[in-house]
Amino acid sequence: MSATVSGTGPREQVIGDGRIVVDRLTKSFGSLTAVDDLSFTVDPGRITGFLGPNGAGKTTTLRMLLGLVRPTSGTATIGGRRYADIHRPQRVVGSALEATGFHPGRSGRNHLMVLADTAGVDGRRVDEMLELVGIPAAANRRAGGYSMGMRQRLGLAAAMLGDPQVLLLDEPANGLDPEGIRWLRGFLRHLSSEGKTILVSSHMLQEVEQTVDDVVIIANGRLVKQGSTADLHGEQTALVRSSDQAALAGALARAGLAATPADGGALHVVTGDLPRIGAVALDARIAVHELRSVGADLEALFFELTEAPGNTNRNLGDPSPDHPGTEREGGIA
Ligand SMILES: Nc1ncnc2c1ncn2[C@@H]1O[C@H](COP(=O)(O)OP(=O)(O)O)[C@@H](O)[C@H]1O
Ligand SMILES: [Mg+2]
Repeated sequence: MSATVSGTGPREQVIGDGRIVVDRLTKSFGSLTAVDDLSFTVDPGRITGFLGPNGAGKTTTLRMLLGLVRPTSGTATIGGRRYADIHRPQRVVGSALEATGFHPGRSGRNHLMVLADTAGVDGRRVDEMLELVGIPAAANRRAGGYSMGMRQRLGLAAAMLGDPQVLLLDEPANGLDPEGIRWLRGFLRHLSSEGKTILVSSHMLQEVEQTVDDVVIIANGRLVKQGSTADLHGEQTALVRSSDQAALAGALARAGLAATPADGGALHVVTGDLPRIGAVALDARIAVHELRSVGADLEALFFELTEAPGNTNRNLGDPSPDHPGTEREGGIA
């Protein structure tokens, strides 16, 4: 990434250190608790993956950070302030949410020009951003004819218009081919090396595994893990085979150990503590046939963390990321 871009003038405000703090955040839609007492922090100068299966509550959390959805309780702040309290927020926080509507008849360039105007950003920056995200040639074509990958890039260009300190990106790797994902990785790396705070959501760990420094993993609106990717790699899992897998899974769950079915009728358990598994089996009078440590398989770990009993995805029957409810982008409930 070598493109130099014109500044947008001196930052009018320094928003703390650009740290994101989500504190006991909850959002209920009727009887559904989409985000459930969620707390985590996101540091500047690092890329943080916001991970969880579809329906976990990622988009709702990002919308609360952007002041588009009102929390039922708790707070979500950027540099110590709520989005609504940030002066000229487009200059501080850039975002690209899922299913962001571009006017299909408008060109990509035209679309950015309108946004630049609203944000009080110099129009020259539009062409610089189109160049930066690698779609200068497509700039004058109708956005309606863009591929998914091009729409993602246009969304990134829009997010970058105000030269923000903080970037919130909702599933930016969605629809990108491997080359696009590699490009995105370089793009985000460059921005984080400049000290920006970057939160990027994904429902597919492998899409962002090599991109992110830190992870915040949620399931069912609740935090299941926050830490560095390196920590996650150090996380041990065990494989256990026994005379009664269902009974053992139940006993392990009661002991606070997440167990999920593995190939060949075995169980994966998120722990490096083999004696503990043995003790649980012994207590439950279940014969252990095999018990061994398996290295950290991030993919298996992600699955175990998010699909463990009690974390089963509420939303498997609903593939639609969009909700015809009252809380659409731009509206506040
Ligand atoms: N406006 C809304 N009205 C009702 N339910 C909603 C609304 N927005 C999200 N939900 C529900 O909240 C849960 C979390 O959704 P979402 O935040 O979109 O998850 P993710 O982005 O992780 O896939 C889902 O069960 C979803 O159906
Ligand atoms: Mg989502």
